Amino acid sequence: MSIQPSDAETAHRKVMPFQKYKPFPKIDLKDRTWPDQEIKTAPKWCSVDLRDGNQALIEPMSPEEKQRLYDLLVDVGFKEIEVGFPAASQTDFDFVRKIIDEDLIPSDVTIQVLCQAREELIKRTCEAVAGAPRVIFHLYNSTSTLQRRVVFGMSQEEIIKLATDATEIVKANTRELVASGTEVVLEYSPESFTATEMDFAVDICAAVMAVWAPTGDEKVILNLPSTVEMATPNIYADQIEYFIKRLPNRDQAIISLHTHNDRGTGVAASELGLMAGAERIEGTLFGNGERTGNCDVITMAMNLFSQGVDPELYLSDMPRIVEVSESCTKIPIHVRQPYAGDLVFTAFSGSHQDAIRKGMAYVESGSDGAWEVPYLPIDPADVGGSYRETVRVNSQSGKGGVAFILENYFGVHLPRELLVELSPIIQRVSEQDGGELKADMIWSTFVSEMVEVPGPYQLLSYEVKSTGADRETCQAVIKISESEMQISGEGSGPIDAFVAALSQSINEALNVVDYQEYAMNEGSNAKAISIIALSDGEGQKHFGVGISANTTTASFNSIIAALNRKWRQ
Ligand code: KIV
Ligand code: ZN
Repeated sequence: MSIQPSDAETAHRKVMPFQKYKPFPKIDLKDRTWPDQEIKTAPKWCSVDLRDGNQALIEPMSPEEKQRLYDLLVDVGFKEIEVGFPAASQTDFDFVRKIIDEDLIPSDVTIQVLCQAREELIKRTCEAVAGAPRVIFHLYNSTSTLQRRVVFGMSQEEIIKLATDATEIVKANTRELVASGTEVVLEYSPESFTATEMDFAVDICAAVMAVWAPTGDEKVILNLPSTVEMATPNIYADQIEYFIKRLPNRDQAIISLHTHNDRGTGVAASELGLMAGAERIEGTLFGNGERTGNCDVITMAMNLFSQGVDPELYLSDMPRIVEVSESCTKIPIHVRQPYAGDLVFTAFSGSHQDAIRKGMAYVESGSDGAWEVPYLPIDPADVGGSYRETVRVNSQSGKGGVAFILENYFGVHLPRELLVELSPIIQRVSEQDGGELKADMIWSTFVSEMVEVPGPYQLLSYEVKSTGADRETCQAVIKISESEMQISGEGSGPIDAFVAALSQSINEALNVVDYQEYAMNEGSNAKAISIIALSDGEGQKHFGVGISANTTTASFNSIIAALNRKWRQ
């Protein structure tokens, strides 16, 4: 009989008020071509970490933090960096002055400054950038249908006039800068582009371009923000393609994208927007920005990389990028952050670990060099990680994970049968601990289970002598419980002789049925590991492992460990 939940238990299960929300209208684009496009080259990247990212911090960056992040952005290879909103913040103003006055802008980097379409702000921004070799003057005003109605109470014509007047003011106020040798590029953002009627967005951008009147090779950057992400990324791509197809003098514009991540698809929208014809991407490291953030440039660049496209950013020292970003923003990177989080190349599941191990072996054993490893979209080594870190062991992991840790951390390769014995023991320890088993814990469990096995047998000393013709004798002193015993035997080698000595003294038929010995570590403190399986009088097989700098001692220790394991059973 099924038990029905009580009314009290289901009282919270009210239908969510979904009727409150309207679906985003489709874009009237019948002949869309973007779904068939591929991204084959990296876009122009522009970092907006020091502006959009900084603006969204609980505690905005100090001048030192701005400087540190700026240095990182230059190092990572950004050629365009929005360094602040100097008319809105004295810290930003001072920072812009500092990097200009102290000559901290590399010759291949252009700084960008944001400014609202207001005369006094435009003038102040021009003061901030005086003396820079090249500047992108980023002018913006909101064009959104809702904001025009609810916030500004302005018609489309009035908004166009606001934008074109502001462009005139920028032109007039930058004339002096240009005369004194600064190259000025105009970037115009119809803020809330995605919430604007598309034809109006085209009209206002065309009007701004007409006022700026780029000549020759000069282009205007038209930046089309999804200031708040409100629809699926295909809608954004439709909007971009629609806009580009209708923009007059398209060849005089660089189409730039600036997505936010409210629906969690900021990167996807930027990617589809590129397919729709855009050329430039604004975003931030790890997507730091207003609310749910901006387009995450690292993810987007690494996505290109994983498709065999040069991302034109240098992301190989990901741990340093994470460290600087976390310390400047004071926002931790999530463990599942694509390409950068602590767990993103980690497999806990036994079957995944096994597949990774086999994939790695395949890649290393002379495939065509292409990366083909299941569960790992890229080689962790390409972003400063290591293959070793891909496998971690918890109660979900099987023998594959244990084998991986022993092999990769300690150079120990166990036979399958021994692994089958060891892995449930490790699993039990992990279940008791309730968490991850680190490599040192796996090692100590292995040692106490297989190597230094508590029991009555102990090897105190031994002497092996050759009697010629492939025969050796072994004299040893062993301890069984509290009694010391002299034993001796003869065989085809030291192991054979020692096993013969033991068999006689404890009166049990012992035979070596499996044996391997190899060097564990390279270097001066190299040790040998001996893995042995003895069969007893009843034909039962017992594994034991010995470790020593001396190969004979390692073998004898493994035999003693096997006897103690037999006794323990
Ligand atoms: O998200 C946005 O619309 C912006 C603009 C200022 C470009 O950050
Ligand atoms: Zn933004």
